[in-house]
Amino acid sequence: MQDVTDLPFWRLMAEYGGADVYVTEYFRVTADSRLDKWILQSITQNPTGRPVIAQMIGNDIPALVRTARELQHHPVAAIDLNLGCPAPVVYRKCAGGGLLRDPERIDRILGALRTAISGPFTVKTRIGFDDPRIFDQLLPIFEKNRIDLLTVHGRTVAERYTSEVHYDAIALAASTLSCPVIANGNIHSAGHAAHILAITGAHGLMLGRGAIRNPWLFEQIRQHQRGLPVTCPTGRAVLRYIHRLYESVSSPDVRETSQVQKMKKYMNFLALGVEPTGRFLHEIRRVTTTADFFAACRTFLDHDTPLPLIPYDLQLPKSDHLAGHHR
Ligand SMILES: Cc1cc2nc3c(=O)[nH]c(=O)nc-3n(C[C@H](O)[C@H](O)[C@H](O)COP(=O)(O)O)c2cc1C
Repeated sequence: MQDVTDLPFWRLMAEYGGADVYVTEYFRVTADSRLDKWILQSITQNPTGRPVIAQMIGNDIPALVRTARELQHHPVAAIDLNLGCPAPVVYRKCAGGGLLRDPERIDRILGALRTAISGPFTVKTRIGFDDPRIFDQLLPIFEKNRIDLLTVHGRTVAERYTSEVHYDAIALAASTLSCPVIANGNIHSAGHAAHILAITGAHGLMLGRGAIRNPWLFEQIRQHQRGLPVTCPTGRAVLRYIHRLYESVSSPDVRETSQVQKMKKYMNFLALGVEPTGRFLHEIRRVTTTADFFAACRTFLDHDTPLPLIPYDLQLPKSDHLAGHHR
């Protein structure tokens, strides 16, 4: 995730159990782009002990082919193309999710990349730009170009991040394609993860915001799969995680205000799992110093009550409130 899941963040996730595979922030690819040094570092100095997939975003075929060839000189488990980013600055240039308006162009890009990439080639997609029916046209294109794995965030670009997730579209991909399909979108607890695997038939899960909010989530999912009791962190354990996050992502050359600003990015996701009124996030958004930042955190987290860390903004259908965590 851009500006969030960088090398220090990966290192911290790995300490909490971590993912089986990590995906880099995307490399922006244009006619004169170079590999971003800090993203490349997460590949060359990968601290997780797990495989890394390098993600690219762009639409310029020669540039994508050139970048894919360069990336293959590094220890990557696969090269991935982003077909989902909903940021207007990206989609207006017909990259990321913007490409979903033009399946023929996707076909040409995938064809060229399939030829250029000798190892595994993967795609991360949404289910359409503003109409999910286009997904029916996209699936044969993924199949024809022999991609090795498809991750589906079950929303259109227009639905951004907060609508319900169309898990039925993920199920369709899993039952149609010969490659493995990974389900993505709103996976927030071990019970919910098991439910999503069951209803989609997906081969695995990708966690985004859930991992920021709850770094225990990877391990909780494993515990649930093994039939073990699922660990639930207390308020104080979450407080320690925030301290660790602060230490991990800070560096001596960054000013205190910028550091606090960076923490607010993570707290946008984390705070939603802490309390339902929005007061915590409101207070966090007002602070400018490290001392005030942690004072606000202590107000809400200096306790030993278990916190399921499920986002209070999620309007889940009743059937989605499954095993393990209830509030
Ligand atoms: C701040 C932010 C940055 C993101 N950056 C990327 C990215 O670089 N590449 C990508 O494939 N998805 C990116 N995503 C999308 C997530 O990977 C994921 O598809 C989406 O958030 C839904 O999954 P979740 O509910 O588990 O977060 C980003 C999402 C957010 C909120």
